[in-house]
Amino acid sequence: MSTIEHASAIENLAHENRRFPPSPEFAAAANVTADIYREADADRLAFWADKAARLDWAEPWTQVLDWSDPPFAKWFVGGRLNVAVNCLDRHVAAGLGDRVAYHFEGEPGDTRTITYRELTERVCQAANTLTALGVQEGDRVAIYMPMIPETIIAMLACARIGAPHTVVFGGFSAEALRTRILDCDARVVITADGGYRKGSAVALKPAVDEALTGCPDVRSVLMVRRTGQDVAVTEGRDLWWHESVDRASTSHDAQAFDAEHPLYVMYTSGTTGKPKGILHTSGGYLTGCSFTQWETFDLKPETDVYWTAADIGWVTGHSYIVYGPLSNATTSVLYEGTPDTPHQGRWWEIVQKYGVTTLYCAPTAIRTFMKWGHQIPEGYDLSSLKLIGSVGEPINPEAYMWYREHIGGNRVPVIDTWWQTETGSIMISPLPGITAGKPGAAMSAMPGIGVDVVDEQGESVGNGQGGYLVLTEPWPSMLRTIWGDPERFKETYWSRFPGRYFAGDGAKRDEDGDLWLLGRVDDVMNVSGHRLSTTEIESALVSNPKVAEAAVVGVDDPVTGQAVAAFVILRKEAGDGGDHVTRELREHVAKEIGKIAQPRQIMVVAELPKTRSGKIMRRLLRDVAENRPVGDVTTLADSGVMDAIKTGMQSGA
Ligand code: WTA
Repeated sequence: MSTIEHASAIENLAHENRRFPPSPEFAAAANVTADIYREADADRLAFWADKAARLDWAEPWTQVLDWSDPPFAKWFVGGRLNVAVNCLDRHVAAGLGDRVAYHFEGEPGDTRTITYRELTERVCQAANTLTALGVQEGDRVAIYMPMIPETIIAMLACARIGAPHTVVFGGFSAEALRTRILDCDARVVITADGGYRKGSAVALKPAVDEALTGCPDVRSVLMVRRTGQDVAVTEGRDLWWHESVDRASTSHDAQAFDAEHPLYVMYTSGTTGKPKGILHTSGGYLTGCSFTQWETFDLKPETDVYWTAADIGWVTGHSYIVYGPLSNATTSVLYEGTPDTPHQGRWWEIVQKYGVTTLYCAPTAIRTFMKWGHQIPEGYDLSSLKLIGSVGEPINPEAYMWYREHIGGNRVPVIDTWWQTETGSIMISPLPGITAGKPGAAMSAMPGIGVDVVDEQGESVGNGQGGYLVLTEPWPSMLRTIWGDPERFKETYWSRFPGRYFAGDGAKRDEDGDLWLLGRVDDVMNVSGHRLSTTEIESALVSNPKVAEAAVVGVDDPVTGQAVAAFVILRKEAGDGGDHVTRELREHVAKEIGKIAQPRQIMVVAELPKTRSGKIMRRLLRDVAENRPVGDVTTLADSGVMDAIKTGMQSGA
């Protein structure tokens, strides 16, 4: 979406002048005061060194940041640590073994309470099993799981033995899983028979079997029994978790790894068809998510019950369900299923049941709850909440106000946090004990983070103006590269504005200098907080033999933020389309990528609007899909195309 197209959004936001400062009691007890910004400004590297020292290091670092070969950063050079030990063993050693790490709530209503001691033992068992399977330091392990404790155990076991994990969201298809396994050359896959979603058992293992038909190097599949569904077992390759991990020794001597040792690869959509493997390493990443979880959520680990309602298959789950919370000895909630199973009050029932103090979720969930009505949360006691947060997409002021009023009871701080898979941890957010929040604004750069909004030429814009969001300084939890593609890393993030990180988002500074996020400026869509690439879906469509050409756009949607709309030109053999063809194409996209990428609408057209150089003008297609008058068509090679598309659609409707 171009920044210009956001002009009207900017106009609306400019009239937003409500302010919500924290209560005096909250501010007085907050973990950080405004001094934190001064501390960070005075000496950024000393600030981050101090935050890294919150972790246990087996060997200290000799240099905070090595930026001698930008954009390839090294943080805490020479330091050595074990990420899993920092998340587990050190808490047990400090006498916190009986503290609950997770209150697990399965969708069918089964529950488990897992203490730090138990989690540590389970992780040791899984680490021993992986080692027995031949996994060594540096080997990649793919994880394709539902939202159950074993997913976290698997991730930490990998971290413990220095084997980078790549967690593939359970909603992705076999094809998507296969490309990720191949891209990072994983040799072991950890999965489950299935998981519970929307009231039924959804199988996972068949997708693994299908994916592995194209992955000859995968030698072992470790399977958790969750649903009891039948699974096909390949002898010599597949083994059950309960027959291996549960029988392994609960003691495991963890070795320390270099601060820059790879911790994980997380695939995310970019502007081309091929997903990018974002690489995060150990010391800096853990410093970033550990410190920001404590700072942004005003974490009080002794008393808080913290709930990030996201999927572990996304970065939000990695940083704020697993690594951040565990490193701080937090008690978290882990919920397997969907918000409306078995009823639309499920989340609020969970808040009431566990006394959740801190809830962190995406605006798309908030807008869904708005649609269901405030009477639903009103049926539950939400008075345990002390702070509520939002992440993943711009939060519109209406959703912010509803969240504040109906979930936060008009008494607790709301924080809108901006960050990305690439940034590893929160970059822009209000600080709850300090900032007087504005509905819909992410407000200011976090302490120690350099943010700017620039114009096409890379010049900082003034207050009241919009432009491109950039990060001006390297930060500890930054991505280190794109797995196997350092050139793409440089090109994608560091070439648009040399020396600065280009985020791909539009932003605005208001008259007070506060930051508002305006959505993507590239061909990346954001559907229900999930990043999808227009090109990736286009390639999926044209891989169907019925399709000659496809163009995909993200159109505004009141609940999901954006929705996918596709325009396709069919091959002659496919006829004129019709319901069965569009149905087939939607299924085809689900198969190639996953259900989340399915277009909401598919429109069969005779031609696509193109510039003289052959570039598809998605802007015009978005006008059509959103029922707006079509904008400027003067750069079209054939100006009659848009009329043909509109006429065709009307007659087809
Ligand atoms: C968008 C999710 C507005 C943004 C943590 C970014 C947001 C992309 C916000 C990253 C926010 C995330 N306000 N937009 N508070 N948070 N985004 O990698 O477009 O899944 O570039 O990381 O989500 O999505 P990702």
